[in-house]
Amino acid sequence: MTDLFQGPKGTRDFLPPAMAVRRYIEDAWRRVSIRFGFQEVDGPTFEPLDLYKVKSGDEIVSQLFSFTDRGGRDLALRPEFTPTLARIVAQFGAGLPKPIKWFAIPRCYRAEQPQKGRLREFIQWNVDFIGEETLTADKECLSVCAAFLFEMGLTTADFVIAWNHRDLMAELLVALGIRPEKLNDTFYVLDRLQKLNPVERQKLLQARDFSVSEQELLELFAVETAVPAGGRTALQDRLQTPTARTAYEKMMQLHDQLVPPELADNFRWDVGLVRGLAYYTGFVFEVADARGENRAIAGGGRYDKLIELFGGKPTPAVGFGMGDVVLEILLRERGLLPEHLGGGPDVFIVNASDDADLTAQWASRLRRSTFDPTVRKITQGGLRVQHSYRATKNIGKLLQEAASAQARFALILAPDELSRSVVKWRDLHARSETELPIAQAETLIRSACLEKGG
Ligand code: HAM
Repeated sequence: MTDLFQGPKGTRDFLPPAMAVRRYIEDAWRRVSIRFGFQEVDGPTFEPLDLYKVKSGDEIVSQLFSFTDRGGRDLALRPEFTPTLARIVAQFGAGLPKPIKWFAIPRCYRAEQPQKGRLREFIQWNVDFIGEETLTADKECLSVCAAFLFEMGLTTADFVIAWNHRDLMAELLVALGIRPEKLNDTFYVLDRLQKLNPVERQKLLQARDFSVSEQELLELFAVETAVPAGGRTALQDRLQTPTARTAYEKMMQLHDQLVPPELADNFRWDVGLVRGLAYYTGFVFEVADARGENRAIAGGGRYDKLIELFGGKPTPAVGFGMGDVVLEILLRERGLLPEHLGGGPDVFIVNASDDADLTAQWASRLRRSTFDPTVRKITQGGLRVQHSYRATKNIGKLLQEAASAQARFALILAPDELSRSVVKWRDLHARSETELPIAQAETLIRSACLEKGG
């Protein structure tokens, strides 16, 4: 006997209930992005391998699914969307009105060790604000992210936003003796260090030939950032250069101007947060479960040099990505996923007559939509109609089937009523029933579904 094929490691099959959850999340991502004036874009699922090697950083490069095509070109499945976005803006940005506010919902691929919250194929919402260097853009990205989390029913008690600034980190590291040209490498190490156990940490530090001891780095993470009332933070006292001081002031302004203001209570300045991606240039942040039980829900920051690096004009940019995996775990754990996702049909046809063809005829009439070519629009949508495939005329049984399909209404075609040129119309929520004259039934059914349908 042949063993059953299994889906590849770290991937998911979306059966209808799982697909309904995915659509629920994606619809909300789309809705919230559009509400804030972001427009949807997409790009190819694979890109030239070099696009990721240039500036995404060692960690992502080590997780690439790469391959060589028949023409000998080295390609990789996209592990993230930012390089594609920067490539598109570098190519087409000059002709686009600024600022560019785009969102995307790509599938991404990373050859990570599958674990809770991390898979090899996942869906990632990206929100990016391009061409605006002021804090307005950073603030708006954080507001969109928070608006989405609130829309899902989460509150400020459910998540925290850890944030930091790479210019500050750079100064603190240089003060410890790291050479400026080794900074990017160091950011990567710092990001990894916090995810490793002590033995793995030692190995990584030795392999990277670091001039700084583990102890010094760990002390750095622990720098006190809380602002004492009216006073200076320990971090502030360690900042010597104007660049680092400016970064500090900017972060303080961002904190004070957040919308909604209660978001400020969720902010934690985390000196250890650097983010593994090498293209970030300034403000970086990560959103996490407040109970600390799950991996990051979202992460992002400024990447002011990436578009230029890909051949575009110098263009500031800021954005974030949020994966569906941790988010779904969090919503499930907090009991925030709605019970009946996906929704049932508007109408379930219960045919108890002797004419089996009536089912298909009614279904076809009600499902029909009207496209008006003069305005190039659908002017009347079709209804969602289902019916039974069982050979029974038992109205009770058929109504049970309608209820388990979560239908809103039932259209009952029964011999008595048909002989009087009427049909029965049952509101399955209100459990009430009326008769509709056949001649007007379609119009009446359409308006009832429009008024009360889901
Ligand atoms: P990232 O931190 O690598 O950033 O990913 C952002 C989010 O994607 C994570 O917080 C997590 O929710 C999700 N994610 C990442 N890897 C996986 C995985 N293997 N399985 C499930 N979920 C995952 C970026 O990707 C940046 N490109 C975000 C960005 C956009 N920065 C600026 N614009």
